[in-house]
Amino acid sequence: MAQTWTKSDWRNKPRIQMPDYTDADKLAAVEAQLSKYPPLVFAGEARKLKEQLGKVARGEAFLLQGGDCAESFADFSADGIRDTFKVMLQMAMVLTYGAKVPVVKIGRMAGQFAKPRSAPTETKDGVELPSYRGDIINELDFTPEARIPDPAKMLQAYTQAAATLNLLRAFSKGGYADIHQVHAWTLGFTEGEQAKEYRDMANRIQDSLDFMSSAGLTSSRNAELSTVDFYTSHESLLLEYEEALTRVDSTSGKWLAGSGHMIWIGDRTRQPDGAHVEFAKGAMNPIGLKCGPSMTTGHLKSLMHTLNPDNEAGRLTLIARFGAGNVGEHLPRLIKAVQEEGANVVWTCDPMHGNTIKSASGYKTRPFDSVLREVQEFFGVHKAEGTVPGGVHFEMTGADVTECTGGVRAVTDEDLSDRYHTACDPRLNASQSLELAFLVAEELSNRAEAQRAAV
Ligand code: PEP
Ligand code: CO
Repeated sequence: MAQTWTKSDWRNKPRIQMPDYTDADKLAAVEAQLSKYPPLVFAGEARKLKEQLGKVARGEAFLLQGGDCAESFADFSADGIRDTFKVMLQMAMVLTYGAKVPVVKIGRMAGQFAKPRSAPTETKDGVELPSYRGDIINELDFTPEARIPDPAKMLQAYTQAAATLNLLRAFSKGGYADIHQVHAWTLGFTEGEQAKEYRDMANRIQDSLDFMSSAGLTSSRNAELSTVDFYTSHESLLLEYEEALTRVDSTSGKWLAGSGHMIWIGDRTRQPDGAHVEFAKGAMNPIGLKCGPSMTTGHLKSLMHTLNPDNEAGRLTLIARFGAGNVGEHLPRLIKAVQEEGANVVWTCDPMHGNTIKSASGYKTRPFDSVLREVQEFFGVHKAEGTVPGGVHFEMTGADVTECTGGVRAVTDEDLSDRYHTACDPRLNASQSLELAFLVAEELSNRAEAQRAAV
């Protein structure tokens, strides 16, 4: 099957959630141009990530995936990339301490531009316009012109993704990610009066670092302490863009989606016979699959066969997003389907997309407590089933936005209007993200202790 697949086959399948470009010549010209541009990632990197995700599947590593709901052209800045990267490193360090295993870090970055929408149009004050579908497709402004899909935006998205990845690579390997520096930032967070409940764990991490230094394990002599591996991911939604960046890996002869290290299929576009599944099945990258409440066991089984026919470890990550209160109803039946197939998968928890509500002030928001509760339910079900809760997937930013309510530096309903900047779904801010990492680390550390006690 893999031999006969081509990167254009999706064009013969039903497609949804994609724009109807009106100017076919312009679209073809952009696709031709993108096809000549270098891929953003390389096959060896995708293979390495797959290997690491294989460890996650076995419980030998933990996955942290996070970033914007939608990257935006207007908010593109070095500081923005740096701040999100920085919080993810802090979270990863706290999670490493809790889980006692390495944390695989994947940003929703450098390509997370296209958005599926719940309705094709949006109506305001009696005016109906096509929905905004992400900066790679059209514009957020509520005018007829802004909402026309423009193929040229793919070129701008590519340029922004390339610059983002360039900076991420520099931060990862250039000294910015030094473990001591990352911990110093975290100490700054726990020094505040509000976050004092996390101080104890931060101090224990400090003790471990001090011990390592005394034992001669210093950053200058150990690259593991001063650099990180950081990967990129996005929803593979705009297939013209994905196809144009897909290339043959000269080492293996396999096709690589060159747009990012990992790509995922959204909850709305996972039809087993649809265009998005058709595209993803032929790419050698690690693939994510969102699993919402409507995922049937039959569809899941069929998708696992299609997307991972060789049952390769690390190839397929199932991203559960049911909503707090619903995990117990859906996760066990899907875990059972995985077990019946003997399938090799990573299970991770996206506690964002099932917990979106409209606040009294009219903003789309997510309560911090619901986010935490879904993660706890996810861990609880895996514990009961004896399976591996592999990781977490957050919509988050390093910026001090007010989009999700709650947290120790409490954001209230009334605060939402202060700094509500997201182009799409509400994100956890830096403080809420780090706090969540501390709370997840507690859960993980209890689990690690229970495992040690059982040995
Ligand atoms: C997303 O991750 O931004 C998203 C749209 O998720 P889902 O497909 O799970 O709704
Ligand atoms: Co989202």
